[in-house]
Amino acid sequence: MKVLVTGGTGFIGSHTIVELYAAGMDVVNVDNLSNSEAFINDRVNAITGKHSTFINADITNEDNLRNIFRNHSIDAVIHFAAFKSVNESVEKPLEYYKNNIGATITLLKIMDEFKVTQLVFSSSCTVYGQPDELPVTEDSPIKEAATPYGYTKQVCEQIIMDFAHANAGFYSVILRYFNPVGAHNSGTIGELPRGVPNNLGPYITQTAAGIREVLKIFGNDYDTPDGTCVRDFIHVCDLAKAHVAALQKLIKEKPTQSVLVYNVGTGKGNTVLEVVKAFEKATGISVNYTITGRREGDIEKIWANAAKAEKELHWKAERSLEEAMLHAWLWEKNYRNIL
Ligand code: UFG
Repeated sequence: MKVLVTGGTGFIGSHTIVELYAAGMDVVNVDNLSNSEAFINDRVNAITGKHSTFINADITNEDNLRNIFRNHSIDAVIHFAAFKSVNESVEKPLEYYKNNIGATITLLKIMDEFKVTQLVFSSSCTVYGQPDELPVTEDSPIKEAATPYGYTKQVCEQIIMDFAHANAGFYSVILRYFNPVGAHNSGTIGELPRGVPNNLGPYITQTAAGIREVLKIFGNDYDTPDGTCVRDFIHVCDLAKAHVAALQKLIKEKPTQSVLVYNVGTGKGNTVLEVVKAFEKATGISVNYTITGRREGDIEKIWANAAKAEKELHWKAERSLEEAMLHAWLWEKNYRNIL
């Protein structure tokens, strides 16, 4: 089984490649390194003891993708490659639409040309916006997207559904991720944001490492147990394993529906302050934080009902938030050469 992973040098992609090899699959990774570093591939190879094929290419270009499918006999695709910054998408909407939607369309076109019929797609709980009822199930309403980034996920989901409808024999699993945190327990791969991190996990570890002076917690006047926002934080290795489960679903059983959608979360919500406390407990390091005003566009609370994935993919999150924080810290220390 040879899996084409787009964006396999990124945070979730790299951890997924590790799990694909652990499940006995082979990998071709295409990534243009627009928001990731080539050395991550060496680290993944060191963890797996295998040598994944790495191709540095932009998949919005049809010829690039065609060459890959021509040169490798690809059985299935996991599509991660996308821009992912919520804020940046507001400033650069055209780049987000062109890259995220363009890549998905090109990929489907070339998959069709080469009769590759199995796709796992990287979506996000952002499609639910602020849900009316919690936890969210896959049938919860899709809300109007608050940002171009969120809209690209909604549109790509729809494109995949329309493509599957028009092409009998094509199957896809759409995974709606909640908030990935943590790192591989070796501490050799992890989240590697460029510049000032937007996301909570790397902001915490960089503050603990002394790279950022203070973690700003955006708002403590929400209707939540301690006033800070609630998210469903999932260890990235658990999330990575969900992709293997999704592929196995496509390979082993021909699903009854051509497109299956799953929430990939722990089923538990934690506040931002609870994440900081979990980090402190796991590492023994206290995080310098301050409460500031709300961040525009943040939703108050969301967590997953992950029962469908457990029932149908035989997958569930197993690692704790503290474990995730410990592993994220191992990675940060390793990357910064902190003893
Ligand atoms: N937060 C802080 N301080 C920071 C960073 C984050 O307080 O420095 C808070 C945010 O306000 C939010 C929580 O931590 O309440 C999580 O924020 P993240 O930026 O880590 O994650 P988001 O939930 O905003 O966004 C994530 C992904 C998106 C995805 C979205 C879906 O980054 O790609 O989940 O809800 F679309």
